Amino acid sequence: MTLANRSLVTIDDLSVAEIEVVFSLADEMSAARDKQFDVCRGKIMASLFFEPSTRTRLSFEAAMHRLGGSVISAVDIGATSLAKGESLADMAKVVGSYADIIVIRHPWEGAAKVMADYAGVPVINAGDGGHQHPTQTLCDLYTIKKERQTIKGLKIALWGDLKYGRTIHSLIFALAKFGADILFCPSPGLEVPEHVLRKLTTEYGGELQRYQAPEQTAKDNLFPLDAIYTTPSSPHQLAMISGISIEVELKTGVDALYVTRPQQERFAPAEKGREAQPEYPVVDKKLLKGKVFREALVMHPLPRVDELAREVDADPRSMYFKQAARGVPVRMALIALLLGAKEISAPGADDSFIHTKDYPAYRRDSGIRCPNPRCVSIQETETKYLKPEFKIVDREPVTLRCVYCEHGFEPKYVASTDWHEGRLENKKYHNADSRWARKIKPENLIIFDTEATARNSGFKPSRSARAVH
Ligand code: NCD
Repeated sequence: MTLANRSLVTIDDLSVAEIEVVFSLADEMSAARDKQFDVCRGKIMASLFFEPSTRTRLSFEAAMHRLGGSVISAVDIGATSLAKGESLADMAKVVGSYADIIVIRHPWEGAAKVMADYAGVPVINAGDGGHQHPTQTLCDLYTIKKERQTIKGLKIALWGDLKYGRTIHSLIFALAKFGADILFCPSPGLEVPEHVLRKLTTEYGGELQRYQAPEQTAKDNLFPLDAIYTTPSSPHQLAMISGISIEVELKTGVDALYVTRPQQERFAPAEKGREAQPEYPVVDKKLLKGKVFREALVMHPLPRVDELAREVDADPRSMYFKQAARGVPVRMALIALLLGAKEISAPGADDSFIHTKDYPAYRRDSGIRCPNPRCVSIQETETKYLKPEFKIVDREPVTLRCVYCEHGFEPKYVASTDWHEGRLENKKYHNADSRWARKIKPENLIIFDTEATARNSGFKPSRSARAVH
């Protein structure tokens, strides 16, 4: 199997079999770490880190050095031509002509996709805003696999900031791919975004069940938080066994507790202060005494702030420093595979589904923009060449997903290119949640943000159209 010339932008880009290939090469490379100097000799990796990083950047760079390659780097937007108003696409083309592979971390969601679209060499997403961080996920999965030999069927609890944690978003889809059950334990107000849940249920077959935390009684309190439980491996597992409840399922304990820090740098102004206790749940010795965590691996992508007590470090269940250390062999394997320096025979046919559900595309220039303020597609330097692009992921009501940041939203007004009987007086726009909207074929759909744009495009309100605010 070869992964040569591929990019890793989201975890969707790798199938289960391909991830297994990365892991077996990582095993091989960590067993003979000092014998890898010829693997990427003569190759150059560009390391572009436009957000703070310790582990990810240094482990990527250490990985390339251990493979015998060289590293060129930029770590501050202010020191690059991006500060002069250069677009990401231009930067991608230039850096792609200097380096054989590019690793990028950027605050804009979808930035890694833009780099991958324009660089002409493999691009690895090392974190794009709150969107995804697929190589951290590889380190997380590799750790679970090393410690528990399998991922399928395990129960993994995700803890803390599930809204802005990009490691969480990549991990959710990866766990679903591998058939693990996921328990979401968000800090209040930092729940998993709707668009992530939608993708999990529509593309990964996850079935969600809501769990109401019991009153705080020390004895029967499994989790101090409300949670969502999903069973992607066998969606109807719980429903099929009559009388079974999440509480019963949980009594056998969780296999891993994945803790995350509040991603304060991405909080909206109204969310400031959510990191403060007791809002933000702390994982400490006392919590880990609970029966449900008896066998749980305690994981964290790091850095930690106050959400994971230092007293846990000495506990044999703590895995976070191992997770970080494993970043080097995992990234060595990934770089070598994407550069085509290594090819590996896959253990069997790849029966895992690759998640590229064929939703109709919406590319029409009707003034509609992604509403996510951190999306790369709406940044001033990028709008000069990037055309907004969406997938139509639902019709009732019409729901779009941005192809860059993957945020979902429900636009307000729609029309058809094929107006009734072709008569101009029938050139009408409708509310997006009306029955008229559902009748329009995806290829004829025109979507508007506001009534003003609909009118400026020559459409009149249909009789049922009403203002939506
Ligand atoms: C994470 C990140 O940058 O998203 N760190 C990492 O890469 N290990 C997690 C975090 O910053 O909280």
